[in-house]
Amino acid sequence: MEFSIKSTVPGKHRSACIVVGVFESKQLSASAASLDKLSGGLLTSVVKRGDIEGKSGQTLMLHSAPKTLAERILLVGLGKQEEFGDIPYRKALSKAVATLKETAVPEAIFYLTDLDVKDRDSYWKVRQAVEIIRGSVYQFNQLKSKKENNKAIALKKVTLDVANKRDISAGERAVREGQAIADGMDLAKNMGNLPANICTPSYLAKQAKALEKVGKKIKVTVLDEAAMERVGMGALLAVARGTHEPAKLITIEYAGAKKGDKPVVLVGKGVTFDTGGISIKPAQAMDEMKYDMSGAASVIGTLRACAQLQLPINVVGVIPTTENMPGGSAIKPGDIITSLSGQTIEILNTDAEGRLILCDALTYSERFKPAVVIDIATLTGACVIALGKHPSGLLSNDQPLAQDLLQAGDFSGDRVWQLPLWEEYQDQLKTNFADMANVGGREGGTITAACFLWRFTKQYRWAHLDIAGTAWLGGDQKGSTGRPVPLLTQYLINQCDKGREKTLEK
Ligand code: BES
Ligand code: MN
Ligand code: ZN
Repeated sequence: MEFSIKSTVPGKHRSACIVVGVFESKQLSASAASLDKLSGGLLTSVVKRGDIEGKSGQTLMLHSAPKTLAERILLVGLGKQEEFGDIPYRKALSKAVATLKETAVPEAIFYLTDLDVKDRDSYWKVRQAVEIIRGSVYQFNQLKSKKENNKAIALKKVTLDVANKRDISAGERAVREGQAIADGMDLAKNMGNLPANICTPSYLAKQAKALEKVGKKIKVTVLDEAAMERVGMGALLAVARGTHEPAKLITIEYAGAKKGDKPVVLVGKGVTFDTGGISIKPAQAMDEMKYDMSGAASVIGTLRACAQLQLPINVVGVIPTTENMPGGSAIKPGDIITSLSGQTIEILNTDAEGRLILCDALTYSERFKPAVVIDIATLTGACVIALGKHPSGLLSNDQPLAQDLLQAGDFSGDRVWQLPLWEEYQDQLKTNFADMANVGGREGGTITAACFLWRFTKQYRWAHLDIAGTAWLGGDQKGSTGRPVPLLTQYLINQCDKGREKTLEK
């Protein structure tokens, strides 16, 4: 999809479709009003007839637009003008693209990006538009054999109008950054949507390796099981015992800043299929456990965005990846293993495997002398129960880092909600037989999982993102969401801006 930025009067340029908004109670937006004037009152009469009232989410396609240079006009309901903020703005955009997707329109100009959105500037409006439009034309049908089920979307070119000529350069930067984030999300979605018989740990390693082609600043290394054995990753290897599929530890190093600048380390859970192991899961919806590598996919997607944008920052992605299967050599409840940190773990439930592979990757991350470490994991069903599908769970041992992530989430729309990481919960992980158990009971399941990881992150500032509820959608929208690529990329962009401000102060 191609995007360009303009600041023009609607109807004076040739276009297959002009997209303009109408507020509730039939109030034309500024662009709609100017188009109305040009067309001799067309929009006023359509709205008067009552076909569109301007309620949020309504759309109406007009197939002729007299006296304008457009073939069609798409009217989009915006809701109440005084309530026009992030949510109705996003809804208007997605409804507009959903309507265009059903038509043969190859190109369109959007006048939604020049609306006033509460507390948001042109950069934000354009970036959201790019990400929403790209997200809604994403399709995953590479595994359908019949071409008629793969109908291509006609829309190929979108022009986004900004209110002022002086906003054009901010708009163009927003296109560039939005496109990179969308490319990262597409990559993450593809990996998430692929079934586990294709998307194996080796496949993830291959996808990571392919990032070296995106820019010279990326270096990828992959440890196999023998190498992990030498390093001493007893917890990761314990999970890998149950499957024939070889486990990997993937490291992606992106050097965007000078050598010696401490990197941001992103650790992504890469369980390519989670049966639960010997503590096997029920059959119902078990297919969804192919998404249990979504943390890993978001790390690969984010590093792709970094490389594409050439961000001036050092970032390292660390991906522990394996299947969790109930094979003959699989770990059993009661088994005690030794992690890379030297701490011993009694496995009381083999389905709590994410924390086992993550704890070794977190210890391994110390060697990069990180500025901060953020892990991303589809870690607990409890998080889905607590927070649903809107925010990811956030727990951290460092409040300024948590604040940075909350802020990046709010700006990008890929939001997080903080849960308490309190010492009191650690008691739930006590056992008579080892340093800790790998589960802490039903109460506060997301928090005790984070408490487990906390024991391996004492050497640095760390945050944990539980994306069990946000990484994919169920129902008729079933599929990977590409989250939290926008959040993580935004966090990194903000870190770069902070660095720039510091240099300016000097
Ligand atoms: N991958 C799952 C978490 C999960 C469950 C994500 C449902 C999305 C939807 C994780 O490995 C797991 O099985 N967690 C257990 C932990 C429990 C055994 C303490 C869970 O949440 O039930
Ligand atoms: Mn599990
Ligand atoms: Zn899992």
